[in-house]
Amino acid sequence: MIKATALAILITGLSAVVFAKDTIIKGDIEYGKHLAAECVTCHSALGKNKGIPPVTGWNIDTFISVINAYRSKELKNPAMRLIAGRLDEEQIASLALYFASQPKSE
Ligand code: HEC
Repeated sequence: MIKATALAILITGLSAVVFAKDTIIKGDIEYGKHLAAECVTCHSALGKNKGIPPVTGWNIDTFISVINAYRSKELKNPAMRLIAGRLDEEQIASLALYFASQPKSE
């Protein structure tokens, strides 16, 4: 007799759905953390402002709008245009989730 065993694995990740304007984008906070490694070479991971504005503790919608404004070249900083231009929507949503979860510095 052959016994079949069904193994159900429940993966609970810290993912969430981000509602930005009229699109629904899925973001993953762990993925965001991974991607943020690049960002924190310039931006303070602790939310401090050392000449470069802090990006921690931002509202998710605001974060996405600002990144999109660099993507659409509405905002002028060349480094941020280049960086934002390389990100897709899922990556932006993931970064927004991750940075929103990080404390603002006083
Ligand atoms: C090479 C350094 C550098 C890297 C890497 C970098 N940034 Fe920036 N970022 C800047 C600078 C400089 C500014 C300020 C630009 C300006 O005044 O328009 C900025 C501005 C921003 C702003 C707007 C802040 C504000 O208060 O207006 C956001 C949001 C942002 N970056 C997110 C990110 C994210 C997300 C990443 C990683 C994917 C990232 N940055 C990577 C240098 C960097």
